[in-house]
Formats: sequence, C-alpha cells, structure tokens
Amino acid sequence: MNTVEPIWNSNLYDSKHDFVSKYGQDVVKLLAPKKGEHILDVGCGTGDLADMIYQEGAFVFGIDNSPEMVATAQKKYANIKFEVHSAENFKLTEQFDAVFSNATLHWVLEKEKAIDCIYDCLKDKGRFVAEFGGKANVESIVISLKKALTELGFLENANTLVWYFPSLSEYTTLLEKRGFRVCYATHFDRPTELKDENGIRNWLEMFTKLFMKNLQKPEIDAVLDKVEQDLKKTNYQNGKWYADYKRLRILAIKQ
Ligand code: BEZ
Repeated sequence: MNTVEPIWNSNLYDSKHDFVSKYGQDVVKLLAPKKGEHILDVGCGTGDLADMIYQEGAFVFGIDNSPEMVATAQKKYANIKFEVHSAENFKLTEQFDAVFSNATLHWVLEKEKAIDCIYDCLKDKGRFVAEFGGKANVESIVISLKKALTELGFLENANTLVWYFPSLSEYTTLLEKRGFRVCYATHFDRPTELKDENGIRNWLEMFTKLFMKNLQKPEIDAVLDKVEQDLKKTNYQNGKWYADYKRLRILAIKQ
C-alpha cells in the first residue's frame, strides 16, 4: 500500500504554517498593486495574499495546482476568482498587468516552462514579482532528511528531486534569456520560527510527503523521529524550532 497522501492539507496550512502568508505581505508591498490592475497570483494557496492584493482595488485571479487549496481559497474569498492550474503549463486568455507568486516556484522543477507561461500571460511592460526558496534553502533539513532516509535503507527516496532552489544568478539568467529585464533581485537569510513544540514535526509532515513515496506509516515515523532528533542540536533554541529559510526575491519586467 502506498501511504503517500495528497501533499496539501489546507487546514494544516492555515493553522500551523500561516507564516507563509504573513511573510508574503512584504512581497505584496514589492508588487505595489494599483487600483484597477489585473493581477495573476501563481500558487495562491488558501488565498490570503490574493485577498490582500484584492483589498488594494486590483482584479485578482488566483491559480494553484491543488484542488483542495483552490476550494478553500474560494470558500474564504468569494469575490475573487480561483482556478486549478499548474505553474508550468497554464495558458490563460486574459493578459495581466502583473504576475505575483509567493513560496511556490521552488516546487516547480520545470522552471523554464513556468517562466514561459508567466511571460506569455503578461502585457508588454508587465511585471513579475516573486519570492521563493533560493540556493541552500532549508539546507539543514534537506541534509538531515536525506541522511535519515539513506541510513534507514531508502536510497531511492533520499535521491528524489523534490525542490528547485536556484542561486540568484541562475534564476535571473533564466529570466533574462526569456526576455525579462530584472530590476531587483536579492537572496537573503530568513530563519523562520515554526509554531509550537512540534514545529519541526509539523513542517516535515506537511512538506516532505514527496520524499516518502511507497513508505509505510511506521517507516515514515522512523525517518521523522531520526530527523527531529538530529535537528534538535541545530534548529531548536530556547524552546523554539526554526527552519533555515533562504529566500530569492525578484522583480522583473517583460520587455
Ligand atoms: C519554502 O517556502 O521555502 C519551502 C516550503 C516548504 C518546503 C520547502 C521549501
């Protein structure tokens, strides 16, 4: 039996990982949405940032590849249009003044395809504003997880490619090759406090399902126990868990 569940749980996302939307507010500031603009939110999750953009008077369209996330977003924000689309192969009839994306593009391994889709749906001089995991993002967690999977004999799982965390130069080069002018790009450390005593366990359970393909529940628990124990030395301070996030934040204009 394959014990891998759908990877997104919108209730857990909103209750235990609401920092994703809270930190995303700075990215909305960089977007600086204006009244009447048409803005696409790629990877809208449960819709909180789409709503923040909507509150500025813009028309927002949120897309996400998780039907569960889209259903939750639609329930929370009835005035905003949400649909299920994947970041690497969406084609929309509408053209947008801006494309916004927070904490999504590191899940998109076909990054050139995503950049093509984003470019194609922008108006001339439209802007692309995004933040996601950059090079060395959550590195301590990735190293510990791969080590635990390897030690427990799950080599194939340890070698699964799940995330794309590019360097600043790699990603801005891809954008320039596609025809964007990159006006602003930064790669910065953002150690992130995880909620409550089980912070790291909740994070691992929410985000590492794709590493656990074909593992049974007791095997998954053994992996998570090992990682939690290992990370306690480095990622747990004064009763709080931290994840070593490193963000790539970008503003680029379609030429
Ligand atoms: C991130 O936002 O950087 C992230 C979230 C979950 C898994 C990996 C990275």
